[in-house]
Amino acid sequence: MKDNYGIHIWGDNNFIIKNSTVNVHYKNEPSLLEITQNIRNKGYKGPLLLRFPHLIKKQISTLYNEFNRAKKEFNYKGNFQAVFPLKVNQLPNFINALIEVSKEFNYGLEAGSKAELLIAITHTPMGAPITVNGFKDKEMISLCFIAANMGHNITITIEGLGELETIIEVNSEFKNREKITVIPKIGVRIRLHSSGIGVWAKSGGYSSKFGLSSTELLEAYDLIKKHNLLEQLWMIHFHIGSQMSEIAPLKKALREAGNIYADLKTRGATALNAINIGGGLAVEYSQQSHNKELNYSLKEFANDVVFVIKEIAKNKGIEEPDIFTESGRFIASSHSVLIAPVLELFSQDYQEKSLRLKKKNPPLITELNALWISLNRSNAREYLHDALDHMESLLTLFDLGYIDLEDRSNTEILVNLIIKKSILLLNNDATKELKKLQNKIQERYLVNFSIFQSLPDFWGLQQHFPMMPIDKLDIKATNPATIWDITCDSDGEIPFKNHAPLHLHDVDVTKDEYFLAFFLTGAYQEVLGMKHNLFTHPTEVLINFDDKGHYSIEKLIESQNIMDVLDEMNYDKKYIEKKLKYLIEKSNIIEQKEKIKLQEQLDFYLSENSYLKTIQANQTS
Ligand SMILES: Cc1ncc(COP(=O)(O)O)c(C=O)c1O
Repeated sequence: MKDNYGIHIWGDNNFIIKNSTVNVHYKNEPSLLEITQNIRNKGYKGPLLLRFPHLIKKQISTLYNEFNRAKKEFNYKGNFQAVFPLKVNQLPNFINALIEVSKEFNYGLEAGSKAELLIAITHTPMGAPITVNGFKDKEMISLCFIAANMGHNITITIEGLGELETIIEVNSEFKNREKITVIPKIGVRIRLHSSGIGVWAKSGGYSSKFGLSSTELLEAYDLIKKHNLLEQLWMIHFHIGSQMSEIAPLKKALREAGNIYADLKTRGATALNAINIGGGLAVEYSQQSHNKELNYSLKEFANDVVFVIKEIAKNKGIEEPDIFTESGRFIASSHSVLIAPVLELFSQDYQEKSLRLKKKNPPLITELNALWISLNRSNAREYLHDALDHMESLLTLFDLGYIDLEDRSNTEILVNLIIKKSILLLNNDATKELKKLQNKIQERYLVNFSIFQSLPDFWGLQQHFPMMPIDKLDIKATNPATIWDITCDSDGEIPFKNHAPLHLHDVDVTKDEYFLAFFLTGAYQEVLGMKHNLFTHPTEVLINFDDKGHYSIEKLIESQNIMDVLDEMNYDKKYIEKKLKYLIEKSNIIEQKEKIKLQEQLDFYLSENSYLKTIQANQTS
């Protein structure tokens, strides 16, 4: 059976397999291969990041639609509002597309630093909400006051009592200024005893970095009241951690937060009108149904949030508050796909054409060769065992000096070929033994990208991202594959796993281009990505579709060239250029007439990005 790489599990119908290729499941359904080749034909080589704005829109509208449906179903009176947390992806091509596609939703932005706040102030449509979380100093709080007086609908979330004192100080300073009269709305982040689940769970719970304990909350309430800011206090906020794999912790957190909300409201915080449930809505990254990452759907999530808050409001006799979310991963992850060319297959030396059989071979090699030639489905298991046995003997013979390097090489090739073919022949009878052997014949695919730059959560947290070839899907892929990136770091590897195997095609990349796609990379990866070995953000494009269904390639940003990378590291670009020139000029080895040519060659290299071009002759990457 051909592999569909679990596209029905993680793909959410965004991509489909059509004949041999992965295609965008939208409008004219172009293949990723066609889009990739189109960009590469313009001269852009190396890894490519494709952004699909229609997928951002799909996620935003799905989120709003599900919550509005749940509100209707439970006859919920409060509003539903949402903001995008900038920390998840601040890149301008993404944010500008997000603002463009979300116009009809009054969708806002969440900021966690001064720089993010500036993005929020300049990009959020007037009236759409801005929430400001994270640690803040006086300048950042003053920026919020300035934004409020520009007309923005901005909420400062208090993360600690010190911050509240600064808000009070800034407020009294602004009060004394003429015509600066608007005070931002205030939210309080509460420290719940419920925490989330999974690797990001420590954002919630008693020991979390953020939020006010019950004692601090009561103190904050008294301070807010004392300084006549109760009219501003309108939101309580919590966040129990990203990629929440189970729904139960959310329900617990909602009950806790709902009761805190109701208590403050009945205590006298009459302007309180919103519960912000933070992020955490998870994404299915798994390619195997037995490894699924989450146990709930968006429908269940929305139902639970609306129902639990409604119940608390009813029991406590208070109005149903607005519900706010700051979902980031759910909104951003699906919109981007990283496409990277395969540069080389490392066990291609184990090919029949590389055999160096002699006129007279050691008897065991002659036997191995005979096993290889006559291997078929009925004898595969027996011959495989014989081959493994012969290999042990031949390697011992080599260690004892009875056979030479050519014999040893022939042994390795023949055994590898026999294992590979036996696994293929015995495909429907995959015993433990065969699965173990897959590890022995793993193919190492060298791929033109950096895991540290493009999949940092794989490096740091072993977070899996769906990956598959974008072409040849009409052919069964049989090579158990390990992915190597091009960094000089052994952590730059996605190893083959028996419980979550990746099989790729046996291709000769000197003749045939072969690309891998990595999906769901749009959340967190782009800004967490690091320049290990000075590999920078890949060349990126927006793929938009017109009314006729045709796609266009827009807003192309090429990966930084080598000199710009060095410049950004604060190297003196001019010094490097001058020094290179000088070294060529002063060289006693290079002939005078060659010097100009070499200088031109160098200038060209410096203007190119740092990803690899080719590894082998006749190949373009
Ligand atoms: C306060 C806050 N809101 C929202 C988010 C976004 O979470 P997610 O991407 O899981 O939706 C985070 C992420 O950690 C956060 O800290």
